[in-house]
Amino acid sequence: MRKSIIGGNWKMNKTSKEVEELVKGLIQELGDYKEVDTVIFPPFIYLERVGSLLKGTSIALGAQNMFWEEKGAYTGEVSPLMLVDVGCRYVILGHSERRQHFGETDNWINRKIKTALRFGLTPVLCVGERLEERKSGRAEEIVSSQLKGCLSGINPSQVEKIVIAYEPVWAIGTGETATPHQAQQMHRFIRENLQEMFGESVANSVRIQYGGSVKPDNIKQLMQQQDVDGALVGGASLSAASFVKIVKYGEN
Ligand code: 13P
Repeated sequence: MRKSIIGGNWKMNKTSKEVEELVKGLIQELGDYKEVDTVIFPPFIYLERVGSLLKGTSIALGAQNMFWEEKGAYTGEVSPLMLVDVGCRYVILGHSERRQHFGETDNWINRKIKTALRFGLTPVLCVGERLEERKSGRAEEIVSSQLKGCLSGINPSQVEKIVIAYEPVWAIGTGETATPHQAQQMHRFIRENLQEMFGESVANSVRIQYGGSVKPDNIKQLMQQQDVDGALVGGASLSAASFVKIVKYGEN
């Protein structure tokens, strides 16, 4: 059985006052909620503060990115050691916005995943095709090559610890969600790829989240799909009311 995992990726949003309010709202509703694994991913600058607020609650802390070296002359970068130091347990790697605006490649993401694992951080590896790739019938080919590139050289027992987020780029921030059927088909395909690469038991234990315009009113149907094990939520994670509804999808 795979336990559901729901993440809130805040991206580059919020000021310190707003962070404080949001986190307090989340703790009130989700602080003891253990039905699903809940993770929030604030901007780097707020990690330490949020980490201290989350202590003793069942909400975990994650970062939106990191560099692959532990320390050194890498101006502007944040290391895995620092993330662990402020209480992070998860790190999003390979988000499409990083691939698109910051030139991240599968090879970089691969290096980051290996380092994250070495530091005991759980990587949330994002994969997903762009609209033109889907339209031209290449969605599966793209996702498969991202998986192969990003997971190359990682041994099966480590892959088991990774969370994968399928985020079709055309569904991110657009209000256009993949249909539950489209999500299920790609999640199935991802699991088949994992099976080919790492064997059946690894494929069956890796959790695969869906991301892209997840909202309180579409979460339930998505979660009903056999291979959808959670969600990575952007816009709707910026308000406690909507994120709480998403995390507690099983109660409505
Ligand atoms: P939205 O939920 O805003 O579409 O963002 C999804 C996402 O990119 C999560 O990482």
